[in-house]
Parts: sequence; structure tokens; C-alpha cells
Amino acid sequence: MRQHFAVFGQPIAHSLSPYIHAEFGKQCGVELDYVAIEASPEDFASAVATFRAAGGRGANITLPHKQAAYALCKEVSEYAFHVGAVNTLMWQDDGWMGCNTDGVGLIVDLTERERLDLRGRRCLMLGAGGAARGVVPAMLEAGVAELIIVNRTAARADELVDAVGEPDRVKSRYWEDLAALGDFELIINATAAGHQTTVMDLPFSLLSPRCLAVDLSYGKAAIPFLSWAKAGNCDHAVDGLGMLVEQAAESFLRWHGVRPQTDGVYTTLRAKQDALISAD
Ligand code: ATR
Repeated sequence: MRQHFAVFGQPIAHSLSPYIHAEFGKQCGVELDYVAIEASPEDFASAVATFRAAGGRGANITLPHKQAAYALCKEVSEYAFHVGAVNTLMWQDDGWMGCNTDGVGLIVDLTERERLDLRGRRCLMLGAGGAARGVVPAMLEAGVAELIIVNRTAARADELVDAVGEPDRVKSRYWEDLAALGDFELIINATAAGHQTTVMDLPFSLLSPRCLAVDLSYGKAAIPFLSWAKAGNCDHAVDGLGMLVEQAAESFLRWHGVRPQTDGVYTTLRAKQDALISAD
């Protein structure tokens, strides 16, 4: 029987998730439909209820609803509890079970696709919003040595540091002091700056010769930060497209009990992204 799935967000029209899940379904012999549903923050809870009433079995949740989705769950995974945000809903008996696959998606992309070793790296996280929150515990689990969180609004960086509760390993610093922080072996851009016209003014002194630069966005939004990192001779620059595909595979696994192969979908999407960017 065909199963119903969806992704909720705002904006959502350009989401790649319906394509990714349709491809995974074909590959794994799972009959499913997966649609994108636009919902404003005010309408989100009722949109999910309507989807469930029509037989919805599971959903992905993207910006700006990850915290609201957490509030809808009768039960959440330990990781989702830790980050306070849910990107995957699964209907179980009489309520939603929520989990968060963003962190594992990032780590699988970096360690398995890109074959990078994160252990022992001195890391800088730019941003302290929902995207940063979703991946910090996974980075610590992956063995990074030290994590400095810097956010335009300092109080949010402090809140995230407090929530992690590892004061010797995870610290906040002021954006104004970036030039005095020394160099890093991993810098993650989790800000929304790439979606705006403003360009972040970052010093090249942040980049060590073996620095891995990661932008959690993909497409045009990832270009300003990754161009800066390449101009400063970083060792490796990675956007968020692989993370997107891997977090989708992790959601698929939780819904259908099988983890799809991701290389084919990733290669197709990478070619499409490259064509879109070079057409501009
Ligand atoms: P998301 O879920 O994508 O993280 P968010 O919770 O709204 O969305 O967080 C956006 C992040 O990008 C925040 O860390 C934000 O900084 P503030 O907390 O100071 O708002 C950061 N951000 C957005 N625009 C930025 C810019 N032009 N320069 C630096 N940081 C920016």
C-alpha cells in the first residue's frame, strides 16, 4: 500500500526532499508519495494534523518549524531531546515520535563521502541558531577536540554553550574578537548570511593549512563562505548538499527500516546544482 510522507517548511517550494525520497523509494522498492507542504508558523500544527488525518505516516521538518515539531511529539529521541529540535516525525500508535537526523547526516557526509577525519580538530562554529544546534552534539561525538562558538548575537552563543554543558571543550567568544582566536582545523558556517546580500567579514587568520571549511547551506547560499575559505587556501571546502542527502537517508531508514544507497542521488543533485550555478 502506498504510504504518505511530506516535508513541512516555509519557504518549501524549492525543496529537494520530494525528489530524494522518490528516488530512495524506487531504489528500495517502497511505494510512497512524498510532497512539500508550505506552512506558516501559525498554521504549522494544524497542517500536520490535517496531513495525519489524511493518512500521513511520517514527515521531515525544515525551517522554521524544527522547534515547533518538537512540541508536537509525544516522544522524542535522546538526540532530539538534547538539541531541542526535530527534523523527522514518525507516526507511532497514537502520536508522533520525533528524532533529528541533521547531526548524523553531517558526520556521515564528512567522514564517509569526503573521507575526512574530524577527531582532534580545533573547531569554530559560526552561528548559534537552529542549524548550529542540530549538529553540535554530533560533532562532539565525532571527536572534535575543542569547539568555539561565535555568533553575531553573543547571548545565543552563550545559551548554546550552556545547553551543551561541556565548559572545558565548548566555549563562546565574541564576533568582534574573531581575529584574535588563532587558527582552526574545522570551520562550520551555520549562519544564514549566505541567504542574504550581506557578506561576512572574516579574517584569513582563522584558516590553518589543514583547515576543513563546511557550509551547512548548499547552492548559491554556500558560495560566499566557501569562496572566502578557498581564497584563504583552506585544505578542503564542503557545502551542505551531501548532508542534505544523508539526513534524508537517515530519515528513510527510520521510516522504512532500510538505509538507501546515497551516491546516485548525490551525484545527480551535484550535477544539477553545478549547472544552475554556472548558468548564472
Ligand atoms: P537557522 O535555523 O538556519 O540556524 P536561525 O535560528 O534564524 O536559523 O539562525 C540564523 C543564524 O545565522 C543565527 O546564528 C544568526 O545570528 P543572530 O543570532 O545574531 O541573528 C546568523 N546570521 C544571520 N544573518 C547573519 C549575518 N549577516 N552575519 C552573521 N550571522 C548571521
